[in-house]
Amino acid sequence: MNHPDRHRWRDAAVQAAAVAAEFIAQESRMRDAITWQSKSATDFVSHVDIGAEERIRATLLAQIPDLRIVGEELGADGDTESGLVAIVDPLDGTTNFLHGSPNYGVSICIALDGVPQAAVVHDIARTSGASHSIGTVFTATAGDGAFANGVPMRVSSITEPPRALIGTGFPFKDVARAEEYLGMMRRLMPVVSGMRRAGSAALDLSDVAMGRFDGFWELWLNAWDLAAGVLLIREAGGKVTDLEGNDARMVGGTIVASNAVLHDWFLDILNDRSPR
Ligand code: IPD
Ligand code: CA
Ligand code: CA
Repeated sequence: MNHPDRHRWRDAAVQAAAVAAEFIAQESRMRDAITWQSKSATDFVSHVDIGAEERIRATLLAQIPDLRIVGEELGADGDTESGLVAIVDPLDGTTNFLHGSPNYGVSICIALDGVPQAAVVHDIARTSGASHSIGTVFTATAGDGAFANGVPMRVSSITEPPRALIGTGFPFKDVARAEEYLGMMRRLMPVVSGMRRAGSAALDLSDVAMGRFDGFWELWLNAWDLAAGVLLIREAGGKVTDLEGNDARMVGGTIVASNAVLHDWFLDILNDRSPR
């Protein structure tokens, strides 16, 4: 299940993410000159997302020639659960990036037959702990723990919901689910210490792995938003499932993440059941 080459795959992913992060950081200094292109009425992309993915693809393929790449901007349609595949979001948090809000990063997961083997989320604008040239690098390989800039990280140890800080993402691409989502918010709001919508699912999941958030949920994410975060959280001792409590997969869907201890309580609240 855990492939012996996973450390080599992780190193390639870390290098690819760093190359993209450097490009994104450099472009962020010329933000006013960036042209926004519309994906939909409220969803934008720029040459920075595309340039970052080009650099990631070139770096990964130079080191792992037999790798298939499913990336948001340059080839999103491949199967993410068969063979050796890199699942890539070259810039997660594009809206933040375009506005100069410092919550965006690169997310790369290398999975084999649907099992995540190596993951990196490169947080470009926020630094933490040990110094690194650009931001914070979250990494994990299957079975070997999770790290922030090389320092082992763990999910939070909070056990009481009133102390929990919960991250979320709005269903802005599927407003048909707004009522369902608002019901969840309404139930959670009075029983936790805070809720946050930071704007990058990959960083939100990294924040659960690092213990900054005690839980996170979003009604729909693509595979490239969540794949790396799933491995980071599992390796940091947390739990990631769908709304029914099934283990998260390397495909798009609803995601519920927590420090594991709070997971059953969290699922009960989201599903409008009395806590067990
Ligand atoms: C988005 C961000 C956001 C989440 C959206 C994603 P993008 O990714 O992760 O937090 O709420 O669902 O699409 O478009 O910035 O790569
Ligand atoms: Ca994304
Ligand atoms: Ca993106």
